[in-house]
Amino acid sequence: MMLLSLAVATVFTLIAASASPTAETDGTSSPSGSAAPPGKYFDRVVIFIFENENYKAVHNDAYFGSLASKHNGVELSNYFALTHPSQPNYIGLISGSTDGTFLDYESNINRNSIVDLLEAKNISWKSYQEAYTGNCDTSMRIGTYARKHNPFMSMTNIQKDSNRCVNIVNADQLDTDISNNDVPQFVFYTPDMNNCGHDTSLQYASKWFEGYLEPRIVKENFTKSTMFVSTWDEAKDYLIPNQVQTVLFGPSFKRSSNASSDNTKYNHYSLLKTIEDNVRTWNLKKRSGTYTHSFLSHQWDLGNLGENDAKATAISL
Ligand SMILES: *[C@@H]1O[C@H](CO)[C@@H](O)[C@H](O)[C@H]1NC(C)=O
Ligand SMILES: *[C@@H]1O[C@H](CO)[C@@H](O)[C@H](O)[C@H]1NC(C)=O
Ligand SMILES: *[C@@H]1O[C@H](CO)[C@@H](O)[C@H](O)[C@H]1NC(C)=O
Repeated sequence: MMLLSLAVATVFTLIAASASPTAETDGTSSPSGSAAPPGKYFDRVVIFIFENENYKAVHNDAYFGSLASKHNGVELSNYFALTHPSQPNYIGLISGSTDGTFLDYESNINRNSIVDLLEAKNISWKSYQEAYTGNCDTSMRIGTYARKHNPFMSMTNIQKDSNRCVNIVNADQLDTDISNNDVPQFVFYTPDMNNCGHDTSLQYASKWFEGYLEPRIVKENFTKSTMFVSTWDEAKDYLIPNQVQTVLFGPSFKRSSNASSDNTKYNHYSLLKTIEDNVRTWNLKKRSGTYTHSFLSHQWDLGNLGENDAKATAISL
């Protein structure tokens, strides 16, 4: 039994090794060049994160409330932030833990994050920060940029490594990357203190997002095999459950269900886990039952950080 399983695995490893990576991507090519590793449900994830609104208000907003139906998506109607205030939610989302951060104060955390898992698989990433000046600047505030909304800079293994912190860029770079068909496979987009709603309102953020996203979501260089995520760091009110609206969507985002909402209980760790678990599997029919093998070495299959991500509920796609 064991030997047969091994033999079958070997055969498929050989087939995998001789196939071109792009041939495995459901007939589409990977987002930026043939070296980009394909995933199971998406070859790229683009996360937009907004600030401080309650689930109900966002759900009832004309634009955020229509994202799922408008763009082939699913609204998670039972999704929770981790804590209050902002910063620990961002830190938790990329590293599986809120440890090492206190309120919105400067944090310098010696821990791995999604970046370590991505780089281990040669998956490209960038953090696009509106109003940021680049050059690995560690300032807590630059105009309408706030480092508390840029968790990557608070991980010391990114902050102190010039090859890594160079991936934290001013958000204007995204249009250049779209024009050059060079958008990385993991995109974390933080609107500035106005556009994210922090210093303005839900209506302001909604108007900004519609104006920003609609002209870009028609560009294949941005959307191909991409799962877009719109989420909020935390609810506005501290006295009600910390529920936020999260929508997964995208014109070429392939899910196994058409459901436009999912009421399973999730949180920010679930989103992290879903990205980690974006594994292409290959089902081998045998006489009784099915062998399921991870297929190809150039897939996401990121593993986990051994933090709260490890036991989080992955979002069913
Ligand atoms: C990693 O990705 C880069 C850029 O896509 C590519 O040039 C390189 O060949 C890849 N390396 C491996 C080991 O796949
Ligand atoms: C997509 O990328 C290619 C370069 O690879 C470029 O020629 C084209 O203009 C881009 N499309 C858009 C809409 O920016
Ligand atoms: C999704 O909807 C399409 C069109 O309505 C249908 O053909 C397809 O079977 C549905 N897929 C699933 C998994 O329900």
